[in-house]
Amino acid sequence: MGERLAGRVGVITGGASGIGLATARRFVDEGARVVLGDRNEGLLASVGEELGAAVATEVIDVTVEADVERLVARAVSTFGGLDLAVNCAGLGTLAPVSGHSLEEWSTVIGVCLTGTFLSVKHEARAMEETGGGGAIVNLASINAKVPAKGMSAYCSAKAGVEMLTRCAAMELGPKGIRVAGIGPGLVETPLTEYARLLPHIGQAYLESVPLGRVGAPDDIASAALFLVGDEASWVSGETLYVDGAESTNGYPDLVTLAAGG
Ligand SMILES: NC(=O)c1ccc[n+]([C@@H]2O[C@H](COP(=O)([O-])OP(=O)(O)OC[C@H]3O[C@@H](n4cnc5c(N)ncnc54)[C@H](O)[C@@H]3O)[C@@H](O)[C@H]2O)c1
Repeated sequence: MGERLAGRVGVITGGASGIGLATARRFVDEGARVVLGDRNEGLLASVGEELGAAVATEVIDVTVEADVERLVARAVSTFGGLDLAVNCAGLGTLAPVSGHSLEEWSTVIGVCLTGTFLSVKHEARAMEETGGGGAIVNLASINAKVPAKGMSAYCSAKAGVEMLTRCAAMELGPKGIRVAGIGPGLVETPLTEYARLLPHIGQAYLESVPLGRVGAPDDIASAALFLVGDEASWVSGETLYVDGAESTNGYPDLVTLAAGG
């Protein structure tokens, strides 16, 4: 237990799993009270039970503006304000650009980019209203700058998230609100289960990481804790790549590997 976030109130989207869940545990451990938003009702309920009174939960879809407003309003009504936010809700697909359905493209852009926009919009409004400033962290990916075969929608969405972070930081800085990003490399979460189920894909990822291991959700939670905390009080607009130097290498060719190559 620490006190780095004592007295602070946060929201975390995608807080029921993976990176969002690890971040929630870390923030609560450091004294914060947090509202977790996720569309997975079952997982959210068990996380709420695990973390107890320091946590409230809202079943939300980040692509629905009224849901995001409700999530942010819950932080104010239950815990009295909003100081911190980490926007983790995300998903991906695998399809070559010439065969990508518009529906899947729109889903990925909708959740990863539009969902992050809606989150930043309402989190910033709540922080502006309380007048005390705040810190917002958006989950991008190494795919914001490293292209990957079969992942055009995800890469485009994450590049958009990185630019959204810069634009929001520019606009919100005068109000004392910092906006930063995290660009993880491969982290072991339910999102990347395919890399554990298909060992040749897992091996290809491992070989692309100069530091010789893939990431754990706690690696990203540590970066989020730094970015929302006082030690980062002059950090805004940047996306911090937390990837074991994976982004210095090309991305594994998932299309060929998934086909058994
Ligand atoms: N795991 C990795 O290797 C990795 C790498 C780079 C970036 N990221 C990014 O980190 C973030 C978290 O990913 P993760 O690995 O923890 O994945 P995860 O699947 O474990 O968690 C994502 C959570 O987002 C929720 N979610 C998805 N769509 C939603 C929606 N429309 N509304 C509300 N909630 C929704 C899911 O229910 C899930 O609980 C994502 O933005 C992802 O793109 C992950």
